[in-house]
Amino acid sequence: MNMDRRGFLKAAAWAGGVAGALAQSGCQTLADFPARRGKSLVGFRAEPLAKVRIGVIGVGHRGSAAVPRLAGIPGVEITAIGDLYEERAAKQAKALADQGKPAPALCFGSKDAWRKVCESKNVDLVYICTPWLWHTPMAVYAMQCGKHAVTEVPSAMTIEQCWQLVDTAEQTQRHCMILENCCYGYNEMLALMLCRKNVLGELVHGEAAYLHDLRASNLNEEASGGYQGQWRLEWAKQHTGNPYPTHGLGPVCQYLDINRGDRFESLTSMSTAQFGLSLAAAAKYGKGSLQAKATYKLGDMNTTLIKTYRGKTIMVQHDTTSPRPYSRINLISGTRGILADYPLRVALEPKAHEWMDDKELEALKAKYVHPLWDKNGEAAKKAGGHGGMDYLMDLRLCHCLQNGLPLDISVYDTALWSSIVELSERSVLHGGAPVTVPDFTRGGWKTADPLGIVSV
Ligand SMILES: NC(=O)c1ccc[n+]([C@@H]2O[C@H](COP(=O)([O-])OP(=O)(O)OC[C@H]3O[C@@H](n4cnc5c(N)ncnc54)[C@H](O)[C@@H]3O)[C@@H](O)[C@H]2O)c1
Repeated sequence: MNMDRRGFLKAAAWAGGVAGALAQSGCQTLADFPARRGKSLVGFRAEPLAKVRIGVIGVGHRGSAAVPRLAGIPGVEITAIGDLYEERAAKQAKALADQGKPAPALCFGSKDAWRKVCESKNVDLVYICTPWLWHTPMAVYAMQCGKHAVTEVPSAMTIEQCWQLVDTAEQTQRHCMILENCCYGYNEMLALMLCRKNVLGELVHGEAAYLHDLRASNLNEEASGGYQGQWRLEWAKQHTGNPYPTHGLGPVCQYLDINRGDRFESLTSMSTAQFGLSLAAAAKYGKGSLQAKATYKLGDMNTTLIKTYRGKTIMVQHDTTSPRPYSRINLISGTRGILADYPLRVALEPKAHEWMDDKELEALKAKYVHPLWDKNGEAAKKAGGHGGMDYLMDLRLCHCLQNGLPLDISVYDTALWSSIVELSERSVLHGGAPVTVPDFTRGGWKTADPLGIVSV
């Protein structure tokens, strides 16, 4: 059932009561959406591919790990590799030759050479591992060339880019997926199983985060092995909000059936001031250095609170500049119990006032292990990539393409999870005022099936 625009606005105003606050705050409301120009992709299945021929663009830290991992999946061939630098592309070609794989076409030497990867007749899927600002233009062009497109996280950095992904995917009837590997983590898939089996009852609240001390990586120059053009530091100079929301958020959205029975309605976001980067820059370059004196707009800690149409809440945090242990929080709480991560803990009724002991937790893990991990866990650990979740993501993606199945993460999920980048910044810049979240499904969330318990 499609809700028309008037109905959507009415429902949003009624359910959220945010319209008045938005008008007062001067925040632009984002309830409106552009007219659909293609066919809805809810439940979309593309033609099955006997062999998945992949063109990888961007073979820095992330892409160089993806190439051998993808090449090791049965029925997959890396047919093209693109990068700014010849030596990076050539290094991956050599890695493939060492694996006994056919030689890919290499596209390098200019910032536009990647287009040849998208135009190649030998590519079905363009796999994009470049810096953030390249993700959307590359995915859009890939789809316009008739290829499926997947990008590293986030897939888009603005609302306009989110709509570009949705519109282009619908117009070209191609898949477009964010490579949210954390949806395939062992603990995340265990949590998903507890949700699917109704162990936690009605789900009420989720918490997600990317808390990762990246001060050294941020300040590392490209020549010393740092990010190409220090892309992450450049973003921190110009933007506030949460630029990297999806690692924690993606799995929590899957638990809560977001875009598949529920949807984001509004959010509010606040950031602390910035301290960590300036201190780290002063320690590395000296107090009077350009780096220490530079303005970094990105606050150390950003906290965003999302409210859903069905009355659930999600907290999302981002902090890459404070000394603290890594965490994605990964918490889901319901009417019968709670799962929290870092470290993994579960508490269930009737003993929900204390966490399970180790023995009970191990028994629960054995009972509710996700079939993807149960069947492919050993292969995943061997292939590696964040403990195996990168391999399981790629394996499942290629399985869906080979069998003409809907992908686990749709273009609507891709756009929605990425939209937090701009929406959180807007709210921060308006003193934490509520911002309406666009419905990228254009009403399709009401009939879309929840993600099932998938396997390969
Ligand atoms: N999912 C995860 O766990 C995870 C982990 C790390 C990084 N990432 C994401 O992966 C992406 C890449 O991160 P990284 O650490 O590999 O960065 P990086 O700087 O090491 O690599 C980026 C690569 O893209 C290439 N590139 C840049 N512009 C290009 C262009 N116009 N044409 C062709 N190639 C171009 C660069 O030369 C470089 O080799 C980022 O979006 C990052 O957020 C995700």
